[in-house]
Amino acid sequence: MSKTTDSVRQQHASLSEQLHRHNRLYHGLDQPEISDAEYDRLMQQLLALEAQFPELISNDSPSQRVGSEPLDSFSSVSHASPMLSLENAFNAEQLREFDARIKRFLSREEAIEYLCEMKLDGVAVALTYEAGKLVRGATRGDGSRGEEITRNIRTIGSIPLRLQDDFPPRLEVRGEIYMELAAFRKLNEQRREEGEATFANPRNVTAGSLRQLDSKLTAKRPLTISCYGIGAIEGSEPQSHYQLLATLRRWGLKVNLETLRVAGDIEAVIDRYQELIELRDQLPYEIDGMVVKVNSRSLQQELGEKSRTPRWAIACKFPPRQAETVLESVRFQVGRTGAITPVANLKPVSVSGVTVSSASLHNWDEIERLGIRIGDRVVVERAGDVIPDIVKVLRKKRSGTEQVIPEPTECPACGSPVSREAGEVVPRCQGLSCPAQLKESLKHFCARRAMDIDGLGDRIIDQLLRLELVNSVADLYQLQKEQLFQFERMGEKLAEKLLTAITASKQRPLERFLFGLGIRHVGSHVAKVLSRRFGSLDALAAADAEQLLAIHEIGPQVADSVTRFFADPRNQEILARLRQLGVAPIPSEQPLGDRLQGKVFVFTGALERFSRKEGEALVEAQGGRASGSVSKKTDYVVAGPGAGSKLAKAEQLGIKVFNEEEFLSYIKQGDDS
Ligand code: IVH
Repeated sequence: MSKTTDSVRQQHASLSEQLHRHNRLYHGLDQPEISDAEYDRLMQQLLALEAQFPELISNDSPSQRVGSEPLDSFSSVSHASPMLSLENAFNAEQLREFDARIKRFLSREEAIEYLCEMKLDGVAVALTYEAGKLVRGATRGDGSRGEEITRNIRTIGSIPLRLQDDFPPRLEVRGEIYMELAAFRKLNEQRREEGEATFANPRNVTAGSLRQLDSKLTAKRPLTISCYGIGAIEGSEPQSHYQLLATLRRWGLKVNLETLRVAGDIEAVIDRYQELIELRDQLPYEIDGMVVKVNSRSLQQELGEKSRTPRWAIACKFPPRQAETVLESVRFQVGRTGAITPVANLKPVSVSGVTVSSASLHNWDEIERLGIRIGDRVVVERAGDVIPDIVKVLRKKRSGTEQVIPEPTECPACGSPVSREAGEVVPRCQGLSCPAQLKESLKHFCARRAMDIDGLGDRIIDQLLRLELVNSVADLYQLQKEQLFQFERMGEKLAEKLLTAITASKQRPLERFLFGLGIRHVGSHVAKVLSRRFGSLDALAAADAEQLLAIHEIGPQVADSVTRFFADPRNQEILARLRQLGVAPIPSEQPLGDRLQGKVFVFTGALERFSRKEGEALVEAQGGRASGSVSKKTDYVVAGPGAGSKLAKAEQLGIKVFNEEEFLSYIKQGDDS
């Protein structure tokens, strides 16, 4: 191992400092000064330096944000003071009673000042900072002991690894981890695209992400935090809860200060409550109520707590966007990858003004978790996703005639056998010519983000299938005007327009075409990566798993799915017909060759001109491969400043070494001399 010199230490400290600062600017202040790519570049430099000098890795290094080695289990830890829960109020009257109780307890008649906070619907955590460094993150657990999830907590960008300004020597902060609705919908959209089961709501996926033993998975989930209090503090305390939260923010913690309201008396609290009920649907995250706290910290102390709840705070819940109804039956939807998802047919019920008659049951894990049966009385909720959700089964209301939901053994659309593979939460139809899969594949192929065939929506696709005019996406390109005339509400103009749109789609960027094919696990991002690397459909079709796996971002699941897709004779036939019919996707903007086929590159040192990831992408783009260690199999080493042991080994083995400039010109010109 190379010995760290003062200059390396300085370089590490400077990179860390820059990353901490940019993280703060981005997450804390919403004022980024550099692009995401530049941030990645700095992070890659830090990772490279730490890979070379592991003694530099500390728990508060920004490198910990990308996750670390998986754990076998979480350990249990006790909280500095119990994590209490809150009593609930459901209306203005109950808020007035809360106020009256407080005044009675304090023997006081003058108005109490309150702080109104949003009640975020997420997962409560306690974060411990010692000497300003994040040393522990824990879940609430039973209130006195929770699970230690520090590694996962460190991956959340809005949680500072180091505090700033005049932070106290020791602090336990409490807050709610949550996922914003836009991020949640995007995540579900991505999973739908890739043929994966979707998540029920933002809270579930937040809880699941925090309980991952592999923190690298948590790092991929867009979680954030809002801090609302403390469990312990060493040093002087601000006088009001508002000031406490403002101080937490000054120390670098994320507090949604803008949403707080100081209310002079309980009537002002009630005004804010009514206001939030109106605002609720416009917020970028899910809230299930408002938390009201006595603002004065000394009054809070005087009031103290009952067994599990403080006397000085209350949660005022919103009228739930929930309603009770009956699960009448379950239908099964077949997706384009054959995934069969259960959907609940409900007795129609109005949920805060919207009539709900069906809800997603997501997958079989969810059915088991709910323990739901046909005929059950259930509680449905509109939250998070656009599709409502069943949140509870009212078992006490069972009559005994309810029936277990059978897992389908055959596809409801084509009757082919279905099977559920180990580890999968949905069964899949194995039918090769399943009409439901075909319909979904056609819809996917024509969608805006794929081949973008204007006018070819649900209604037309239904008619194409009913008249058996289309059996695969290739048939779209053989449609004749006369055939379209048979459709309802189809005139000459519309038919011509449709055919023009179909013809126009013959030339679409390769990545859209690839995405449109609906290969399992190939969403729009992976499609882009593949089309950039291979440049043409033929090259991709000829690629083996090893070549695919050499690409950064491509894992075994994708590699397996892609090779299987192209090996399937049915798919080969469709692709050949598409070509015959003139479908010629435009090669990627940067057609990438195979000049470096089989060549292995190792990047070392703190790269300054490009990030390690970018360097690897350049190599992979031309068919080469990047590796982490130097061996006899290495063809080239690219060394940046501070390169140590790997460079020495390369020299010892007589391997060609490039500096960054040389590497770039080699990549551009193919000049090996
Ligand atoms: S204060 C002693 N404030 O609601 C005070 N809680 O039962 C305890 N929550 O599990 C909590 N937003 O996770 C507080 N602004 C907020 C909150 C909040 C959400 C959650 C918290 C707790 C539950 C209350």
